[in-house]
Amino acid sequence: MELTKEEIKKIIPYDEPFLWVDEVESIKDNTIVGYKQTSSEDPYFKGHFVDFPIMPGVLIVEGIAQTGTILLRKKMGENHKKNLLLAYQVRSAQFYKPVFPGDKIKYQVELLGFYGFKTANFKGEAFVVKENKSSSSPFAAARVGEERVGEEDKSSSSPFAAARVCEVRFSVAVIDKDEFKTKYLGEKEGKPLSQTKLPPLKIGNLFAKIPIIQGGMAVRVSLHNLAGNVAKEGAVGIIAVSGMNDPSEVKSEIRQAREIAGPQGVIGINIMGVAAHFLSLVKAAMEEKVNLIIQGAGFREDIFELGRKYSVPIFSMASSLKVAKKGEAMGASAIVIEGADAGGHLGFPKGHPFRKTIDIVKEVAGVVKIPLIAAGGIFDGRDIVEMLRAGAKGVQMATRFVATKECDVHQNFKEVHLKAKKEDIVIIHSPVGLPGRAIKTPLVEKILAGKAPKPDPKKCQGCIGMVCDKSYCILDALENARKGDIENGLVFAGSNVWRVKKIVSVKELIQELVREANAILKQEPLVVKEIYV
Ligand SMILES: Cc1cc2nc3c(=O)[nH]c(=O)nc-3n(C[C@H](O)[C@H](O)[C@H](O)COP(=O)(O)O)c2cc1C
Repeated sequence: MELTKEEIKKIIPYDEPFLWVDEVESIKDNTIVGYKQTSSEDPYFKGHFVDFPIMPGVLIVEGIAQTGTILLRKKMGENHKKNLLLAYQVRSAQFYKPVFPGDKIKYQVELLGFYGFKTANFKGEAFVVKENKSSSSPFAAARVGEERVGEEDKSSSSPFAAARVCEVRFSVAVIDKDEFKTKYLGEKEGKPLSQTKLPPLKIGNLFAKIPIIQGGMAVRVSLHNLAGNVAKEGAVGIIAVSGMNDPSEVKSEIRQAREIAGPQGVIGINIMGVAAHFLSLVKAAMEEKVNLIIQGAGFREDIFELGRKYSVPIFSMASSLKVAKKGEAMGASAIVIEGADAGGHLGFPKGHPFRKTIDIVKEVAGVVKIPLIAAGGIFDGRDIVEMLRAGAKGVQMATRFVATKECDVHQNFKEVHLKAKKEDIVIIHSPVGLPGRAIKTPLVEKILAGKAPKPDPKKCQGCIGMVCDKSYCILDALENARKGDIENGLVFAGSNVWRVKKIVSVKELIQELVREANAILKQEPLVVKEIYV
């Protein structure tokens, strides 16, 4: 073997290409031969481009191009690292047969010409050299097509003609890194890059045009209509499933949200770690191929293993550096940092002083390496930009989304949000054992006075299991509010709810937030390592 995967990774100076070639078997004169063993665990077989497990053609070309650039970098000697190699032109591409999960691919790439150390022309081929016969793909029958391809290819001199997957002719440009930065990105010596527009949210394979996650709101405040419409506008829509019993309700909500959001929409669920039926609800969401899961109050470790099994990213919530570090160590894809201005349950148990979101974000940003999402009290575009400057990659907002036409909750609940004054916003004790931020209602007055009705043991559904201190029934209180019975209801809200003045559409709200953020970024850009246009 000429190069191992580790050696390849040292040669190619990018952290996250779409895929890695596994090994280079040989480099002789102008020809290089490499291999890749695909696996059903590879993310691109899991509905990345299409909804069935075959390798997208663009990634077959990517493997060929990567193999070609390894050859070119070898030929350029030590100086190659000063250059970017950009496969800028695919002049022809023929695809002959599909690649299934488990197939082993061989890449054979020939350097046809290298002009003035600036442009290189290649011919590359990919072959399946070892098939995964047991592929369960419904398209496995397409292998029958091989015989036909084999026949067509008889004239070819390639010894692998029958197994040929792709032939591509492409050009690679060699661009001096420093020149690229000054010429194309405007970076002058020592001057950092400036982002003058709200950047998208990119976390692993997740991509949302707008870096806003609509916070999950239980019980049944954020369902498919809100989440679907948020995702349709390019942000991330979250269905809250805490308080649900039936996994089929979770599946049905996700399906309906997707119908509204369209194929590009990013839909997630939020579930409290203390929720009853935790595992069955989480599994249902994963089977429905939800794009992400945010784990709220109560840290469950078993969700991470499931996330890996189903390839669903898990976001942990944290209100301290300690819990953020724990989430990172367990394998979370991102951490939602929630400060004390949030609505609903607050992650500051007795004895832990309330902290502002921005202070926790600043503290965690330098230490935890995975992306951070800031939550709690974020109201307008200025707040969003402030959180990005503090080190967050995006924000989670909930209160603003209650006062939208599409929010799934009863109109009376929305009216309570609209009418709330500063002095109506209070901190109550929740039977979960955490404080919660809510708006004063007759029931809330009773909770504050310690006179709320005790739960009826005959009706208790055990919604939060053993952690419940039975001071009142939180499920009933939240259900009453969401159905419009404000007298007996608990209406959660963030500390800035008094600033909400009207009910708008999700589209109007998101456009307003983006407009406000962009106006600020145009004046005072964000300092970034990568620019998005
Ligand atoms: C009505 C309501 C219900 C909420 N329910 C949940 C929940 O079930 N799980 C959770 O993790 N967070 C919940 N939250 C918190 C939000 O998801 C979000 O993180 C927080 O409210 C952000 O602060 P903001 O409302 O000031 O934007 C809830 C918030 C509200 C206002």
